[in-house]
Amino acid sequence: MHEISQVVLYERLLPMIESSAVTGSPTDIHELNFATAMDFITAYQFGLGNSSNFLRDTSFRGDFLDAYLSRRTYTFWPQEAPGVMKFLKRLGVNVVPEFVDEANRKIETWCLSMCKGAANASNSAKNPQSLGNSAVVCTQLARSLKLTDAQTSKSGAEVQPVDLIIASEMLDQLAAGFETSGITLTYLMHELSKRPDLQAALRDELLPLYSELQLNSPTANLPSPRALDALPLLQAIFMETLRLHAAIPGPQPRITPPTPSTLAGYAGIPPGTRVSALPYALHRNEAVFPDALVWEPERWIKAGKEQKEDMGRWFWAFGSGGRMCIGSNFAMQGM
Ligand code: HEM
Repeated sequence: MHEISQVVLYERLLPMIESSAVTGSPTDIHELNFATAMDFITAYQFGLGNSSNFLRDTSFRGDFLDAYLSRRTYTFWPQEAPGVMKFLKRLGVNVVPEFVDEANRKIETWCLSMCKGAANASNSAKNPQSLGNSAVVCTQLARSLKLTDAQTSKSGAEVQPVDLIIASEMLDQLAAGFETSGITLTYLMHELSKRPDLQAALRDELLPLYSELQLNSPTANLPSPRALDALPLLQAIFMETLRLHAAIPGPQPRITPPTPSTLAGYAGIPPGTRVSALPYALHRNEAVFPDALVWEPERWIKAGKEQKEDMGRWFWAFGSGGRMCIGSNFAMQGM
């Protein structure tokens, strides 16, 4: 992550922002945040050499985002009623237009090519891996799958079933990772842009970390994750942004267990019932977050011990339990 951060921040992002500032040219910061998040997550998955360069490759980024975002209004059918969708398709009724299938194919092909690049690099005899070039997630997944013989046997097809298993998981993670972090960063910047006082305070908190670094050393020009984690205002700004602008506002569904259950005071909920909760609603509970509609990072600093515990219990931006976000630490570190 350290090597990845150096490349993404120092070689790509910061020079672009600086150049915009110097030339006074406007920048679409939301797209830039998507791009930064995508470059981070894919570099961690596939290694820097096989990952996206959305920050620099604006044309590919534009094509990808067009394809990705064009699917947005059509997620209901495959997600909530895949059976009905297939049945209707057999009757000749396409509830999801062809261009969505095409966009999906495009995105899947791209993800598969990064998986192949990562596999080739790790199989290569030379294997000139720097740490930032290791395909951390992809390699770990391939190792952990403990594939059966049937899955690894070569079928003669160009793309083996096992490649698809890995690519499918990788696609889940990159999609889950880039959009959420991008959205969060954009809200954070928007809110900070309205609070110059807070920008100044944040700078005061951050700068000592940087002034202690040897800025010309290739390995020591970023503060340690531990040092960043310990900054109260930075932490509060993220918590408050994730509270008021949860990138996944919900609902997060769960199915009730095989015996009748009690939930939020309702007894006898039958087994197999789909229930859900929404971070959007939980985060607006006035009893826990007074003036809940106001973005106020200071609330996370001023709160007493008991109130802070309460706020933590109600904070659900990453969900909880067995289906909780697997990328929450990665996201916080990257952002
Ligand atoms: C600000 C950034 C992020 C937010 C707000 C976020 C939020 C969430 C939420 C709310 C869920 C559902 C949790 C539940 O149902 O309890 C989730 C699931 C998930 N997230 Fe994230 N996420 C973020 C970043 C990431 C990143 C960087 C990754 C990359 C690995 C990631 C991978 C996933 C995956 C794979 C799941 C599904 C887990 C499962 O169903 O078992 N997320 N995320």
